[in-house]
Parts: sequence; C-alpha cells; structure tokens
Amino acid sequence: MRIDVITIFPGLFEPFRTTSLLGAACRDGIVELAVHDLRDWTKDRHRTVDDTPYGGGPGMVMRPEPLVEAIEALAGPKRGEGEESRQAHVLLLSPQGRPFTQAKAQELARETHLVLVCGRYEGVDQRVIDLAVDEEVSIGDYVLAGGELPALVVIEAVTRLVPGVMGNPESADTESFQAGMLEGPQYTRPAAFRGVEVPAVLRSGDHAAIARWRAEQARERTEARRPDLLPAARGDERNER
Ligand SMILES: C[S@@+](CC[C@H](N)C(=O)[O-])C[C@H]1O[C@@H](n2cnc3c(N)ncnc32)[C@H](O)[C@@H]1O
Repeated sequence: MRIDVITIFPGLFEPFRTTSLLGAACRDGIVELAVHDLRDWTKDRHRTVDDTPYGGGPGMVMRPEPLVEAIEALAGPKRGEGEESRQAHVLLLSPQGRPFTQAKAQELARETHLVLVCGRYEGVDQRVIDLAVDEEVSIGDYVLAGGELPALVVIEAVTRLVPGVMGNPESADTESFQAGMLEGPQYTRPAAFRGVEVPAVLRSGDHAAIARWRAEQARERTEARRPDLLPAARGDERNER
C-alpha cells in the first residue's frame, strides 16, 4: 500500500515512520509512506499556505491553490460523474468528517493508494473539499490543532490490517470491534500476581472451554461498557447463521 501525506509539519511523522510495526512494514516494502511539505507547492517568497477568512472571523483558512495542486500531483484530478475515477483515495482529516471506525479502517486497508490531507488553522477552503477530496474523516468529537495526529491514527489503524504487517494476522480477528464487540480480559505469566490468579479455564488446555469463556467475557464487557455496539453485533451473528 502507498500512503502520501500532505502537511505543513512533515517532521511530526518521522518517528512513527521508522518505529515498531509501521517502521518494519516500511522497511519491508509492504507500506510505502511518503510525507510531503505543503509549502513545496506554494509559489510566493514566503511560502504562504493560509489567508484571512472571507466574511471575517477569527483565525486563518488554508488557501486552495497549494492544497489542490499538491493533491492533484499525488493523486491525479478528481473526476466528474461518469468519468473513470482516480486510483488513489483522498481523505481530508476533519472534525466534520464521518467517524473513523474499525470498519472504516478495514475498508481503507483494501485500497492500494491513500492520500491524507492534514488541515491546520481554522481548516481548509471549501473548494479543496469540493474539487479534490473524496472523503472527510474525523477521529472523534473534539477539535485538535491539526490533522497530523488524526492522520497518524488512520495510518496506524489501517496499515496494521494490511496483509503481512502484523506478525500474526489472527490477532486482528479477535480484537475489539472486529466482531462488533470489545475483547475480553487477557492474562500472561505469572499465574498468580499479588494474590490474583489467572482464571483456571485459561490454564485448563481445553480450547473449546477457553473459546466459550472468552466469548462470554467479551459479551459481558461489551454490555457493561459499550451496549451501543450490541445491536450491530447481534445482526452480524444472525447473518453468520
Ligand atoms: C482547529 S481544526 C479546525 C476546526 C474547524 N474550524 C471546525 O470547527 O470544524 C484544524 C485542523 O485539525 C484537524 N482536526 C482537528 N480535529 C480533528 C478531528 N477530530 N478529526 C480529524 N481531524 C481533525 C483538521 O485537519 C482541521 O482542518
């Protein structure tokens, strides 16, 4: 998978690009992550990317010219209806976007080329969205100063699902949200710690009993913490029958 990021702070991505799972995926050539400085698409001496908002109001707005040129240089032009669509999928990180979920991460992990656009200041000129962006995504109902952390959230959630990135691909199958539920409690050695023992079933070697226990724990935990997830999980169970 190739991922291009457009930002005015490319340095923020470097430690993530070279560390842990993502670092290994980049070194192994499974993920190609290129981070671009938006100012490289400016034409004035001061490399300006923002300007005051029409109609007045606080703060600055990101100008459309460098952003649209950068997106088009990396992804090609957004085509009109009926025309063949471009290969890359262009996402703008925005608090006004659709919520970014595990299901969205799975969908994006099937793409071959993502372009992530990081806003700053009061956001981007609406014409960037209309002319060059395919989708806006939000990582939560709060406002950050910029799209860099949201882009990193998307990159990490998506790339770990790309085949070959996780050492054990089964890890993803049992994780929270995968079957619409939270994962249950997990334990490792020692068998007893400060008087608290690992549940006996996990040490029994009875794989069917362990699977039943884990499913019960996942359901109880989801009921207690995230009951909103259960209707969708029940729908999934019905569809599997
Ligand atoms: C200060 S925010 C702009 C907020 C905008 N004025 C609004 O009220 O919707 C600057 C940039 O941070 C990024 N950002 C902030 N919060 C975000 C979130 N929850 N999810 C994704 N991106 C976010 C976006 O790229 C946004 O353009």
